Amino acid sequence: MPLQDKLVIALPKGRILDEAMPLVRAAGIEPEPAFDDPKSRLLRFATNHPHIDIIRVRSFDVATFVAFGAAHLGIAGNDVLMEFDYPEIYAPLDLGIGKCRLSVAEPSEDAESDDPSRWSHVRIATKYPEVTRRHFAARGVQAECVKLNGAMELAPSLGLCTRIVDLVSSGATLLANGLKEVEVIAEVTSRLIVNRAALKTRSDEMSGWIDAFRKACQA
Ligand code: PRP
Repeated sequence: MPLQDKLVIALPKGRILDEAMPLVRAAGIEPEPAFDDPKSRLLRFATNHPHIDIIRVRSFDVATFVAFGAAHLGIAGNDVLMEFDYPEIYAPLDLGIGKCRLSVAEPSEDAESDDPSRWSHVRIATKYPEVTRRHFAARGVQAECVKLNGAMELAPSLGLCTRIVDLVSSGATLLANGLKEVEVIAEVTSRLIVNRAALKTRSDEMSGWIDAFRKACQA
């Protein structure tokens, strides 16, 4: 099959992948051995289905590949979907994996006496500037966002910002860095996402895979 006719599934690198792969496999998709070989530099992998390839990219990029139709299906958290708000993406299925929350945190000593509902202006380091601005604007607070791509937890103690907005799972990273969660912006789980145009033009194939993932989740 010509490469451009293949169905491409975008999966996120990192910790979600460990939770996602049992579902991908239960849906009947098995990547080639290089997928599990940490030494392999491949980014695109064949599967047991000659017409399906898997790509492995950063979690934010899963949404971008799917939005532009470069991948047809993908797995992305609603944190990423909220940040981009791509109209081309449809998220038909909550996979119930990657559970965490998107929260505001600040140095523990400030959090003791602080009341977030009284903030008027905040400077926030985050990977999620759009979600953060919208969240605070909705209650009339102007959030000045400093975009970081990781290790946000360092920023308050070094004076880059007074608060951060980041994913919190166990809370261990916040605790280890002297921060405290003061407000939850959203509960997060991973979703199966599809490109809307592909859902129209390849509807039988795409609906079949959405069903396969639904059954995998229920099993
Ligand atoms: C995420 C997040 C926090 C941490 C929270 O980072 O950005 O730093 O996990 O988890 P915890 O509450 O269980 O400590 P991740 O390790 O996924 O790496 P990233 O910075 O590359 O996103």
